[in-house]
Amino acid sequence: MSNVKLAVIFYSMGGTNYQLSKWAEEGAKEAGAEVKVLKVQELAPESVIEGNEVWKATVEATKDVPVVTSDDIEWADAIIFSVPTRFGNMPSQMKQFLDTQGGLWATGKTINKVVSAMTSAQNPHGGQEATLLSLYTSMMHWGAIIATPGYTDPVIFGAGGNPYGTSVTVGQDGKMIEDVQAAVKHQAKRTVTVAEWVKKANQ
Ligand SMILES: Cc1cc2nc3c(=O)[nH]c(=O)nc-3n(C[C@H](O)[C@H](O)[C@H](O)COP(=O)(O)O)c2cc1C
Repeated sequence: MSNVKLAVIFYSMGGTNYQLSKWAEEGAKEAGAEVKVLKVQELAPESVIEGNEVWKATVEATKDVPVVTSDDIEWADAIIFSVPTRFGNMPSQMKQFLDTQGGLWATGKTINKVVSAMTSAQNPHGGQEATLLSLYTSMMHWGAIIATPGYTDPVIFGAGGNPYGTSVTVGQDGKMIEDVQAAVKHQAKRTVTVAEWVKKANQ
């Protein structure tokens, strides 16, 4: 049994990053971690969401998922972020959340969190690495310890081989093209393992 507390924090309009988050939860629980799956606050106007059936369905599917707060960041030893790409960047909803953590950052409470990130895009080369780097840039400012999957397990090659973090292509039908479940679970387990090492060293 691990004593690691992991927050999986996502934004998802079409459900993909919610699914990736649930697979990460599974992997981390198998590694013995205590896990919270959390969404960031939606910022889009309700009228816009109402006009999009897929978006509306995701809002409904995630209605019982708690909205992440600063307390969750303080609670967590490790964090996995999961976001769709937005023109090669994280979505504004996630950026808004990060940008409201100045208070935690200023009191040193973001230091040594072990972090990792996942993403999705419509195109195989639609900005996956850039999106992951946009998250990792903020994490460097947090003093977080970035634990990427690299090529630490053969399952990564089967999922498209992204060493920055698991990424998946979403087809026109909204379905994932690559089978990334095993890579997500591996990434989650690795994040928990690295967090265990860090916790042990700090005891
Ligand atoms: C405003 C906007 C910008 C996007 N930019 C890109 C892009 O640059 N490249 C790309 O491949 N997909 C892009 N997409 C597609 C999303 O990344 C894709 O729908 C998403 O990964 C699906 O994840 P979700 O189901 O969790 O929402 C964009 C979508 C939106 C709404």
